Amino acid sequence: MPEETAYNQIVIDHLKHPRNMGEMENPDGVGEAQNPVCGDTMRLFIKVEMDRISGATFLTFGCGAAIASSSIATEMIKGKTIDEALKISDQVITKALGGLPPTKVHCSILAEKAIHAAVLDYRKRRGG
Ligand code: FES
Repeated sequence: MPEETAYNQIVIDHLKHPRNMGEMENPDGVGEAQNPVCGDTMRLFIKVEMDRISGATFLTFGCGAAIASSSIATEMIKGKTIDEALKISDQVITKALGGLPPTKVHCSILAEKAIHAAVLDYRKRRGG
C-alpha cells in the first residue's frame, strides 16, 4: 500500500502543504532530533520573545508522518510559553493529526524530541 493511502486528510494536508518549512534567520534556539531506527531527522528553529515562542520553522528529512508531525508541531508551539511547549508530547502531536497509522506512530516522537532540543539550546544560549 502506498504510504499516502494510509494517512488521514489532516496528515495529507500537512504533508502536501507543510506549514513553516525552511530555515530561520537568527533563531533563538535550534533543536535537532534523529530517529535511530530509520535515520530520519528533524531540525526545529524557534524565536522566543519574553519566554514565549513567537516563531517556529522546521527542516525535516524523513517520511510523510515525520513531515506532517513537524509541520503541525510548529503550529502548536507558536504562541506558547516555553513550559507549555515542553508539554507537547508525541501523543499530543499524533492526536492533533487525527491519528497516525500504527507503524508510523513513532514518527511523531521526532517532533517532540526536536521541541525539547530547541528549548534546551535556547536556554543554553541565554546562559540558563
Ligand atoms: S519512518 Fe522515520 S520518522 Fe517516520
